[in-house]
Amino acid sequence: MRIVSGIQPTGNLHLGNYLGAIRNWVAMQDEWTAKGATCLYFLADLHAISMPHKPEELAANTREMVAALVSCGIDPDRSILFNQAQVPQHAELQWLLNGTARMGWLNRMTQWKDKAGKNREGASVALFTYPVLQAADVLLYNATHVPVGEDQKQHLELARDIAQKFNNDFCPEDAPLFIQPEPIIPPEAARIMSLREGTAKMSKSDPSDMSRINLTDDADTIMAKVKKAKTDPEPLPSEKAGLEGRAEAANLVGIYAVMAGTSVEVVLGQFGGQGFGAFKPALGDLLVEKLSPMAARYRELREDHAALDAILAKGAEKARALAVPTLDAAYKALGLVR
Ligand code: TYM
Repeated sequence: MRIVSGIQPTGNLHLGNYLGAIRNWVAMQDEWTAKGATCLYFLADLHAISMPHKPEELAANTREMVAALVSCGIDPDRSILFNQAQVPQHAELQWLLNGTARMGWLNRMTQWKDKAGKNREGASVALFTYPVLQAADVLLYNATHVPVGEDQKQHLELARDIAQKFNNDFCPEDAPLFIQPEPIIPPEAARIMSLREGTAKMSKSDPSDMSRINLTDDADTIMAKVKKAKTDPEPLPSEKAGLEGRAEAANLVGIYAVMAGTSVEVVLGQFGGQGFGAFKPALGDLLVEKLSPMAARYRELREDHAALDAILAKGAEKARALAVPTLDAAYKALGLVR
């Protein structure tokens, strides 16, 4: 069993990242490394240059994201924690896989369509080939399981298609090189929505900071964001079916349920019939209670740049050792003489 996943260091870690992915990273680390499995978690800094960025911000965000992940429970002694830029095998394998990926497959990617928008001619080539790098990220390590939020499912399906086509085209039938990775998506928190708009996902790229809860927010900010969250005027229903067509209410109740480690039904059993005037303060308190220990650890860790750089350097060394044999085998399968 090999668990691999990544996050872009493009800003603060928010509640969507935490509930959709990072919580599972920690849970899988805690459960599987004890049984001998390897977890590799990385900062997708090479992905981050596919959009316009400021170099000094990328460097700062990279260190801050390491601090955030460690605060959430990623243990660099048990998991391999690194950034792509220190493991050149990711970019090398991407080039090799570019020969296998098809233009038509990439053209269908919804993230490409969303991020490029109408200005495709002006989008970077990296934004278009981004999913091939993501395939390289997981195939390089023979990942069997990839914990992600719902929005990454399509990219992982592409990674499976690339693996299959490469195996078919270049490997003997009884000795495929690549494993098809399985996405692990949490059923209850697959898609955490914006606090300002129940139909948009919570995202780092939303210009309004009020749309998301950041791991770094202090208690007052969390409370203010929850109180200002968009809702409708109806009281909460007492049955789950009553949340249909009420995206904002469903999102807040869902967040409460996951944070409290319970089900939507139980939350509605408790708050059904009550208005948001009662529910929002309870949700705010719960978020502050659960997030503040992580935020406190984060504030401590983020100052120690030497320690953060050492974590990345050590992680990258371990990652390179695992990456080299797969990359060598891929060069060989393609007939490249070295
Ligand atoms: P990124 O950096 O956008 O997000 C990191 C993880 O957080 C999840 N996520 C969410 N889950 C639920 N609700 C939300 N609102 C929400 N927002 C984000 C994402 O699904 C993701 O799991 N392309 C990836 C990074 C990447 C990667 C990889 C992931 C690069 N290579 C290989 C897995 C395997 C990305 O931009 O995630």
